[in-house]
Amino acid sequence: MATTMVLQSYHINAVIILILAFTTSFKGTEAQRAFFVFGDSLVDNGNNNYLATTARADAYPYGIDYPTRQPTGRFSNGRNIPDFISEAIGAEATLPYLSPQLNGQRLLVGANFASAGIGILNDTGIQFVNIIRIFRQLQYFQEYQQRVSGLIGPARTQRLVNGALVLITLGGNDFVNNYYLVPYSARSRQYSLPDYVRYIISEYKKILRRLHDLGARRVIVTGTGPIGCVPAELAQRSTNGECSPELQRAAGLFNPQLIEIIQQLNNEIGENVFIGANTRQMALNFITSPGAYGFVTSKVACCGQGPYNGLGLCTPLSNLCPNRDINAFWDAFHPSEKANRIIVNQIMSGTTEYMYPMNLSTALALDSNKNI
Ligand SMILES: *[C@@H]1O[C@H](CO)[C@@H](O)[C@H](O)[C@H]1NC(C)=O
Ligand SMILES: *[C@@H]1O[C@H](CO)[C@@H](O)[C@H](O)[C@H]1NC(C)=O
Repeated sequence: MATTMVLQSYHINAVIILILAFTTSFKGTEAQRAFFVFGDSLVDNGNNNYLATTARADAYPYGIDYPTRQPTGRFSNGRNIPDFISEAIGAEATLPYLSPQLNGQRLLVGANFASAGIGILNDTGIQFVNIIRIFRQLQYFQEYQQRVSGLIGPARTQRLVNGALVLITLGGNDFVNNYYLVPYSARSRQYSLPDYVRYIISEYKKILRRLHDLGARRVIVTGTGPIGCVPAELAQRSTNGECSPELQRAAGLFNPQLIEIIQQLNNEIGENVFIGANTRQMALNFITSPGAYGFVTSKVACCGQGPYNGLGLCTPLSNLCPNRDINAFWDAFHPSEKANRIIVNQIMSGTTEYMYPMNLSTALALDSNKNI
């Protein structure tokens, strides 16, 4: 009896080792799906460290809960949305495109082209001077493909790009760092809010089409978050802690029109290349019922100063909360690591109320059947 059990457990161990060996080789660079990221500070993981700009997150206490406990350029106390998506697809985190470490086999993991401060429009975030605007990010994507081509040849490069998962996050800064940056901004004198939203949406459509032209075949497009409810806006525009109605109106106009262009593009292409993620609704859930998500506050940023810790930048001299997991917002504009994880869980398995036309786990299952 005892011998059989030993034999059996020996057998089970052998099977486990075989499975481990199999998964390890399966996770090798060949079979793994590449991941590309475009957009703004919600998804930048360090490109701005390499630029002369004030839009940066490369000093303490940024990164205080990151695995290395070091600032990386992510606008989070720990990991950000792309990190949790990488984790969900079983990949290592992508490196910033400007990182000198991004070369050789590491290129096959993908790349992050995002740059804090940018928007859909070229004149968004001009106060940050040297940031990588979206057109430049797309040029870098082309340059990336040439580099990979030199490594594995054009046919395999195309397979890698076509088979990749892509994330793009734009739009918040076109309000916060453009239309509403100062009273009577140039854009607000030029356009009424509804006309401005129509304009930036039409420009966004061109950007998404270009991304498809460059080979992207599975693209998660996030809407703007609840930009009126971030601690920065509560500090500047709110008298009683209510979200700013004007900025909420902007997000309310933008997001449904984003879904419309996603629908149009998918119809034109004849495939569901683009998937809309309603990050505004996801975040509104934990903003309106913080307790249900384990947060103590969704109004006060963990790091900052002034009302709601919403004024100025998060610096070594700012107030810093002891437990980052109980704040929905890390700094005046950006969700905490815990909130980022909640958002990615919804991206993975949310209903069609959050993910249009399907959630990411459904998309991943479809793609693995297609064997791209
Ligand atoms: C932004 O700049 C790029 C490159 O300079 C240009 O091709 C594009 O049309 C500009 N976008 C807008 C909306 O003006
Ligand atoms: C989303 O993903 C889950 C798997 O995590 C799946 O069971 C569910 O049916 C999906 N929901 C929708 C609405 O597609």
